Amino acid sequence: MKVYRSTSCVVTILWIFATSSAQGICHHDRGKQNTGFSGEMEGSNNLHCCGNQSYNILRSSCCNGNLTLGLSQLVTYCCGSVPYNPLNEICCSGSIFIRTSAHTKCCGKDPYQTTNHICCGDVLLKKQQKKKCCGKELFDTLTECCCDQDLVLAIKPKSDPCCQTKPVEKSESSQCSQASGAHNNIAENCGSYDPQTHICCSGFLYRKASELTKCCGKHLYTFSEGNVLCCNGILHRDMPEKSECIGGVVYSPGNTTCHLPVRPQIGEHCCGNQTFDPLIHICCNGHRHNKKNGNVCCGSKVYDHHNTSLRCCSDHLYSTPSGEVECCGNHLLEKNQICCSSSTLAVKYFTKLNHHCCGHYYYNKSIWSCCAEHLKPTPERHTPLADYRTKPLMELIPDICKKPVFFGKVESMTLKTSWRHVLLQVVWQVDLKLRNVTKDSWDHVFMDHCSSPVIEKGMIYLWEKEANGSKLLSHPIDQASDIHMFYFLCYQFKDHKNG
Ligand SMILES: *[C@@H]1O[C@H](CO)[C@@H](O)[C@H](O)[C@H]1NC(C)=O
Ligand SMILES: *[C@@H]1O[C@H](CO)[C@@H](O)[C@H](O)[C@H]1NC(C)=O
Ligand SMILES: *[C@@H]1O[C@H](CO)[C@@H](O)[C@H](O)[C@H]1NC(C)=O
Ligand SMILES: *[C@@H]1O[C@H](CO)[C@@H](O)[C@H](O)[C@H]1NC(C)=O
Ligand SMILES: *[C@@H]1O[C@H](CO)[C@@H](O)[C@H](O)[C@H]1NC(C)=O
Ligand SMILES: *[C@@H]1O[C@H](CO)[C@@H](O)[C@H](O)[C@H]1NC(C)=O
Ligand SMILES: *[C@@H]1O[C@H](CO)[C@@H](O)[C@H](O)[C@H]1NC(C)=O
Ligand SMILES: *[C@@H]1O[C@H](CO)[C@@H](O)[C@H](O)[C@H]1NC(C)=O
Repeated sequence: MKVYRSTSCVVTILWIFATSSAQGICHHDRGKQNTGFSGEMEGSNNLHCCGNQSYNILRSSCCNGNLTLGLSQLVTYCCGSVPYNPLNEICCSGSIFIRTSAHTKCCGKDPYQTTNHICCGDVLLKKQQKKKCCGKELFDTLTECCCDQDLVLAIKPKSDPCCQTKPVEKSESSQCSQASGAHNNIAENCGSYDPQTHICCSGFLYRKASELTKCCGKHLYTFSEGNVLCCNGILHRDMPEKSECIGGVVYSPGNTTCHLPVRPQIGEHCCGNQTFDPLIHICCNGHRHNKKNGNVCCGSKVYDHHNTSLRCCSDHLYSTPSGEVECCGNHLLEKNQICCSSSTLAVKYFTKLNHHCCGHYYYNKSIWSCCAEHLKPTPERHTPLADYRTKPLMELIPDICKKPVFFGKVESMTLKTSWRHVLLQVVWQVDLKLRNVTKDSWDHVFMDHCSSPVIEKGMIYLWEKEANGSKLLSHPIDQASDIHMFYFLCYQFKDHKNG
C-alpha cells in the first residue's frame, strides 16, 4: 500500500519560509493556495515558481521545490515532495496511502477508517459507543470523565471532584500527525493594523502621510500630488497635467504615438504600441495582425478558423496535424488523459481505472459518488454517471453549427424525484439549416439531476433540441459577444462550405 515516504511536515513549512523571498521574480504568495508552492511570478496569473523553475499551476504541481508535471496544483496536496490527489489518496506522516473510503484518516503513521476505529494519541482502538479518547485510552462518557491532573490525563469516575472542575473533552490525536499535507496558511502580508495611521495596498503596508493617501495597486500616492495618474491599478508619474485615464488607458495631450501606456487623444487607433487600420488589420489583445491571416482572435494571435488543424483552447492557439483533438481549459488533451471540468475550471488527469469526473475533480468510484458536481462520501452503484461535459462555446464550434440549438436563460428550476425540471426562456434560436426562428419563447427541459452539470438561475446556456427534449451543451455564456461570435463563425462555416 505504501507509495512514498519523506520528511515531516515541519520541514515543509520551514522550507516555504526560507525560499519565499529568495528569487527576484518570485514574490511571496499571500496564502491563496494551501499546497506548498513557493511563489507567484509577477504579472502572470497561473505561472508560479518552483525553486528556480517557473511552472503553470493548471498543469503541474510543486511540492517542496519538486516539480511534478501533468497534475494540476489546484487539485493536489503535497505529501513531502510528492503531490497526490486527496480524494483518492491520503498522506500520513509523509507517506501516501490509497484511500479505502471517504472516512479514512491518519493515526500516527497509518491510515484507518473512522467508521470502525478511533485514534487516541496515535494509538488505534476499536470504536465503542459513548466512548471517547483520554490520552491513549478510551473512557465511558456516561460514567467516567477524563481529568487533566498537572498535564497528566487520567480516567476518573464521574463522582471524582476532578470531573466537576476541569474534565478534558478532546477526542482525537493532535493535528500535525494527522495533517494530510502542508497546510501553510501564510497570513495576509498586512496582518492587523490601525487604519487611522496605516494603509494596506494589495498586501503591502504603508504609514499614511495624510488622509488623502490612497492605494494604486500595491503603490501609494496622494490625491494632492500633481502629475501623478493612477490608471487601472498602475501608477504613472511625471504625466502631463491634462492626462486622463479612459477605459484603463492613459490618454495624453499631444502624444501621437502608440507607446504604451500613453495613447493619442484623437485620430488613429492603437493596437498595443502600434497604430492600426480596422479595415485591413485585426487587433487581438494588443497585437496587430493582417486580416489576410484570419479574422478570429485566439488570445493575442489571429487564426483562420476554416483551418481544421488549428485549435483555439481558451485563448491559446495550437496546431494539431491530426485535427480531432479536444481542449481541456487552455491545453490540449493528450492520449491517456481525461478532462474533468466545471464552469470555473478544467483539469487534466491521467486516466485511471474505475475513476470518474465530478466537476473538475477525478474520483475513485469505490470511495465516492457524485451528484450534480457534488462529491458524496458514499459510493453508490446506482447513481447515473455524467457521460458528457459542457464546454466553452468556442470549443463547440463548428460541431454545433449544423445542429438545432438555441440560447436559453434559466428562469426556474425544481427537483422532482431524480429529475431536474428547468424552465428556460429562449433568448435566441435559429435552425441554421432552415433559418427558422421559433415563436415560443419558453422551453421546458427535464434533466437527470445527478448526472447533469450544475446550472445557475439567470444564466444563459447553449442547448441542443433533441427529439425527446433539450440537452445542455455549453458553459454559461456572455450574451452579447458570444452570440455574435457563434452567429458569425457558424455562418462563415456554412458559406465557406457552400462556395
Ligand atoms: C537553478 O537551476 C539550475 C539548473 O536548472 C541549477 O544548476 C541551479 O543550482 C539552480 N539554482 C537554485 C538556486 O536552485
Ligand atoms: C518528486 O516527485 C516525483 C513524483 O511526483 C517523485 O517520484 C520524486 O521522488 C520526487 N523527488 C523528490 C526529491 O522527492
Ligand atoms: C479505488 O479505491 C479502492 C478502495 O480503496 C481501491 O481498492 C482501488 O485500488 C482504488 N482504485 C485505484 C485505481 O486506485
Ligand atoms: C509620449 O509618450 C512617451 C511614452 O510615455 C513619452 O516618452 C513621450 O515623451 C511622450 N511625448 C509627449 C509629447 O508627451
Ligand atoms: C511594441 O512592443 C513590443 C513588445 O512589447 C516590442 O517588441 C516592439 O518593439 C514595440 N514596437 C514599437 C513600434 O515600439
Ligand atoms: C493551417 O494551419 C497550419 C499551421 O499554421 C498551416 O501549416 C497550414 O498551411 C494551414 N492550412 C491551410 C489550408 O491554410
Ligand atoms: C421552418 O420553416 C419552414 C417554412 O417556413 C417550415 O415549413 C418548417 O416546418 C419550419 N421548421 C421548423 C423546425 O420549425
Ligand atoms: C433522449 O433520447 C436520446 C437518444 O435519442 C437519449 O440518449 C437520451 O437519454 C434521451 N433523453 C431523455 C431525457 O430521455
